[in-house]
Amino acid sequence: MEQDKVNCPKGTREGHLGDKILAVMGSPGSGKTTTAVKLAAALAKQKKNVIVVFCDPFTPVMPVMLPPDAIHDTSLGELLTAPGLTQANILNACVPVPDSEYISLLGYKGGEGLMQYPKITRDKAVELFVSLRYLADYIILDCAAVFEADPASFVGIGIADKVLRLGTANLKGISYFQSHNPMLADSRFNKERFQTAIGCLKAGQDWEAVSGQYGGVDRVLPYVAELEQQDNERRLFQPLQAQESAPYSVEISRIVGELFGLQTAAMGKEKRTKEKAAGPSVSPQAAKPGRAKGGLKLPFSRNRGEF
Ligand SMILES: Nc1ncnc2c1ncn2[C@@H]1O[C@H](COP(=O)(O)OP(=O)(O)OP(=O)(O)O)[C@@H](O)[C@H]1O
Ligand SMILES: [Mg+2]
Repeated sequence: MEQDKVNCPKGTREGHLGDKILAVMGSPGSGKTTTAVKLAAALAKQKKNVIVVFCDPFTPVMPVMLPPDAIHDTSLGELLTAPGLTQANILNACVPVPDSEYISLLGYKGGEGLMQYPKITRDKAVELFVSLRYLADYIILDCAAVFEADPASFVGIGIADKVLRLGTANLKGISYFQSHNPMLADSRFNKERFQTAIGCLKAGQDWEAVSGQYGGVDRVLPYVAELEQQDNERRLFQPLQAQESAPYSVEISRIVGELFGLQTAAMGKEKRTKEKAAGPSVSPQAAKPGRAKGGLKLPFSRNRGEF
């Protein structure tokens, strides 16, 4: 079976734990990391525990998210190359986000790269993601743009329950999209799991004009200046405040609704204010968070304790 090529354990893809692993992939600078964080924040707002895995070993994201003193010693690279991978190891490597009680992070530390670790195998990446399923309500994988060069990103896109494929409304974004289509056409990537979105639509860009090139666009996240500001000030986990940012937050809520079957406050508000608002309906499939047993400490500031 095709799945075996990437060593995906059979049955995990449409697993009984529901749609809980989301891979965010797409072209360089399309907003993958920003979107992954904002989706996690939207889930956290609903009191869901989320582990965000910053898979990208080429530009470590941890130093972009957290100040140095908040980052643990253990990095994703160590986890993925350790001889044994236990739940305790994984939980110890998870870094709780000070600004959010429900979010925890895994990623490469500043100054790291793939070269300083032994070869990361796809088997080990599968092992990590399978284990993660049991450690939080939702897992969001922020994949490297060059996912084919990073085993964790590559396996993550194959194993995720849902994949959000981001692009930009310009020629560069289209070129990236098209150059990766042949690889993603392989049946191991099961396209039914994919949703396509423009990650950062700037003024003057016309998403409808490029929609055909993307084979249709499900969602459009508008450019909002406040996001760049938050990014530069390591405040991405904090809520957007500016009125101009509201359309972005609504789109994030819609994506959460569609991908995980959860209705968020922003969506409810929008529904109340706009009669018959044009937009896709929320999936009726409710997420069924799983919970591991085994006397381990949760990696979240909230709900710390035994489970
Ligand atoms: N909707 C948006 N509005 C405004 N700025 C945005 C938006 N989305 C992303 N950005 C900004 O664009 C830049 C790139 O975003 P981000 O790092 O999330 O992209 P990426 O796809 O993860 O990039 P990479 O391929 O390097 O990993 C950042 O400065 C971010 O603040
Ligand atoms: Mg990124």
